[in-house]
Amino acid sequence: MGIVVAIDGPSGAGKSSTSKAIALRANWNYLDTGALYRGVAWLALKKKASTPQQILTALSDSPLKFVGDPTNAQLFAGDVDITSQIRSAEVTNKVSEVSALPEVREVLLILQRKMIAQAQRGIVVEGRDIGTVVVPDAALKLFLTADLEARAIRRDAELVIGQSSSQVDIVSQSLAQRDHTDSTRATSPLAMASDAIEIDSTSLNLEETAERIWELLRERRLLGLPIVAVLGRPNVGKSTLINRFLGRREAIVEDTPGVTRDRVTYECTWNGRDFMVMDTGGWESKPNGISIGVSLSAELAMQEADVLLFVVDSHVGALDEDDVLVQELRKMKKPIILIANKVDGPTDEAEAHALWNLGLGEPAFVSALHGRGSGDLLDQITNVLPEVGGAQVQDGYRRVALIGRPNVGKSSLLNILAGQNRSLVDDVPGTTRDPVDELIEIGGSIWRFVDTAGIRRRANQQSGTDYYATLRTQIALERCEVAVVVLDASVPISEQDLRIITMVEDAGKAMVIVMNKWDLMDEDRANYLDREIDRHLDQVEWAQRVNLAAKTGWHRDRLAPALRTALNSWERRVPTSRLNSFLGSLVAATPPPVRGGKQPKIMYATQAGIAPPRFVIFTTGFLEASYRRFIERRLREEFGFPGTPVQVAVRVRERD
Ligand code: DC
Repeated sequence: MGIVVAIDGPSGAGKSSTSKAIALRANWNYLDTGALYRGVAWLALKKKASTPQQILTALSDSPLKFVGDPTNAQLFAGDVDITSQIRSAEVTNKVSEVSALPEVREVLLILQRKMIAQAQRGIVVEGRDIGTVVVPDAALKLFLTADLEARAIRRDAELVIGQSSSQVDIVSQSLAQRDHTDSTRATSPLAMASDAIEIDSTSLNLEETAERIWELLRERRLLGLPIVAVLGRPNVGKSTLINRFLGRREAIVEDTPGVTRDRVTYECTWNGRDFMVMDTGGWESKPNGISIGVSLSAELAMQEADVLLFVVDSHVGALDEDDVLVQELRKMKKPIILIANKVDGPTDEAEAHALWNLGLGEPAFVSALHGRGSGDLLDQITNVLPEVGGAQVQDGYRRVALIGRPNVGKSSLLNILAGQNRSLVDDVPGTTRDPVDELIEIGGSIWRFVDTAGIRRRANQQSGTDYYATLRTQIALERCEVAVVVLDASVPISEQDLRIITMVEDAGKAMVIVMNKWDLMDEDRANYLDREIDRHLDQVEWAQRVNLAAKTGWHRDRLAPALRTALNSWERRVPTSRLNSFLGSLVAATPPPVRGGKQPKIMYATQAGIAPPRFVIFTTGFLEASYRRFIERRLREEFGFPGTPVQVAVRVRERD
């Protein structure tokens, strides 16, 4: 199954247009589950079926088929195209009643899951209960809302086409009625999943809403990386070329003819673009009687890949079997780059021009061994890379690092959280194997605890030098989205504790501080702790804090909500208009201090990124550090951001 994006929310919030826009851009499938419920309502009306049994009979007589092309989605009942009929007022009035029937939901649940399982790379599914019931482990869950009035105006605008006057009031009433029925029914009501991200689209247009979702997909690395397959006969230099791309000498050895190797992929970056290079091992062109076949491994590689590199040894030239391979490659209808390898100088290049005959256009002249031409080739590759490819590198589980100095109780915490259900993570295809993560279910979701092996080792041997402990923490921090810093509340906060906290802040990760060993606290110590927190933790006042006793399990259920709050803030985006009206009144009330006789003017601000939130303020002059901190403090007061660092940068611009 591919990546599933679940988009739930009330009617008229923009789910359909947004879902289609995302599916189209990612080249993923699309499923409108509301259309299925509408299809059932249409069948019920058409067949005059009133009892659940009659409705189910009608449904099995005319099975529903949804065609998920985001540019032209269609619904069929049996052979009849009912795409436009299901939008009638009659169906709209009937659908809430029909969709409240548990029998109907049960049948459609199976149908929906079947359709979702068929999606190869990814699918955007919109509805009311997708994140809560249909796909509770969806990689990204969104809850799209908007004010009732905004939704009514949008719906009305859709309806007015072909109508003489607008009827916002009536539409609004009907929407409100449907929301009410959908949210209060007993089976699978409209509800936001606890791990969903809420997007209020009241002041966003379609493009902005889709862009926000795209940003989340990109930031969480859920958009598959493009796969570049390196194909060619044995000994043409494919492995050397891959080593060249990776910029290192791995143990990739040239394939021996006749030996089939698995398709191995490596992550590669060029000019800020990430992609996977797939080594196809021996492209066995088997002389099989008179026909020449293509090896299975190469065949699969061609199907999986997004870009095909075809390597020929320019000293040998194209052989007959190369022609066969070229025909196969062409059938894929994917970008193909012909590479003339082992071109070490102008003479080689002149000879290699013969490869034009393959009909693949101008060859890229390269010496994989010496590097000649490899930069140009990489440019050429990144030019044809699609934005989204077939290599899934993340599964959507949020990544948590459990860190802290020795003896604070990290492994007890891990144990109590994991309980019986612990499992070391299997590697996701396309990522390097890292058998040190654990998937742990807490608070109704599954989390990926990264680098947990180190936690146990350190707990036992305890000797680990500072250097390695710091290194390990650094690695865990790089791989996580949110860090749980465990402190021992029963002893004074130490330098080392503070260093670790600073590391989290510097890494720009969300943070939850666990005050562990709360079972050992007495009133005296609690008073001291309060003072220590005031003194030492004021820099990270924003961090989420949980008092907990890993030994007994006390308050362990507080961790998941704290993690969610922190991650929500970490990925939050403030609309530019709200940001600037806030900043406008802030500056009017408290202008920046005069510096060198000049008063810097604040022109505007924008949120440059998320994870963590990064703001850029454009000014006409330097802003004092204290004033920047003041802005950050007020930003937090205005918009929240509990649990995440916030970065504020100032760009000085000449006024024009
Ligand atoms: O998204 P829509 O307005 O086309 O949906 C039509 C109705 O179907 C909506 O009023 C509630 C119902 N529905 C549902 O109950 N569960 C879903 N997953 C999708 C839609």
